[in-house]
Amino acid sequence: MIYRVNSDTETESIGRNLAKMLTELSIKRSYIAMRGEMGVGKTVFTRGFVSHFGWANVKSPTYTIVNEYKIGKTNIYHFDLYRISDSEDLESIGYHEYVESDAHSIVEWSERVPEYIPEDAITVTISRVPEDDNVRVIEITGGPI
Ligand SMILES: Nc1ncnc2c1ncn2[C@@H]1O[C@H](COP(=O)(O)OP(=O)(O)OP(=O)(O)O)[C@@H](O)[C@H]1O
Ligand SMILES: [Mg+2]
Repeated sequence: MIYRVNSDTETESIGRNLAKMLTELSIKRSYIAMRGEMGVGKTVFTRGFVSHFGWANVKSPTYTIVNEYKIGKTNIYHFDLYRISDSEDLESIGYHEYVESDAHSIVEWSERVPEYIPEDAITVTISRVPEDDNVRVIEITGGPI
C-alpha cells in the first residue's frame, strides 16, 4: 500500500490504521521495520500506531534503545537502533526476547542489523518529496497485509 500525506497528523493516522488493521486481524505479534532518513517521520508514525491502543505520548527512544508500552493486554516495544554499533549491543538488552514475545515491535533503524529483521516483518518506508516539506510518501509492504 502506498499513501501520500500532507502533515504529521496524517502520518499518525496511517500508523493508527496499521495498528487497527492488525487488531482486526487478531494479530498480536508483529515486527514493523520503519525505514527512512533522519527526521522523516518514523517516530510520528509510531506515535499514531501506539495511539490506537490508547497511549498518545510516544517519545523517541534514541537514548534508551527501547521504550516499552503496556496498554491493557497489548505490549508494544519501540526500538531506535541508530546508536547500536553491533549485534552484541542488542543481545545485551535481550532483543530476541522482546521481538519473539507476543508484542508489536516497531523498530527504527533496523537496517543497522539487517540479519535481525524477521522474515515476516512489515516494512514501512517513509520518504520526502522535493516540492513540499510537509509531504511524505508512506509505503507499507510485507507481513500479513
Ligand atoms: N507529513 C509528515 N509526517 C511526519 N512528520 C512530518 C510531516 N511533515 C512534517 N513533519 C515533521 O517531521 C518531523 C519528523 O520527526 P520524527 O522524529 O518522527 O522523525 P524520525 O524519522 O523518527 O527521525 P529519527 O531518525 O531522527 O528518529 C517532525 O518534526 C514532524 O513534525
Ligand atoms: Mg525517530
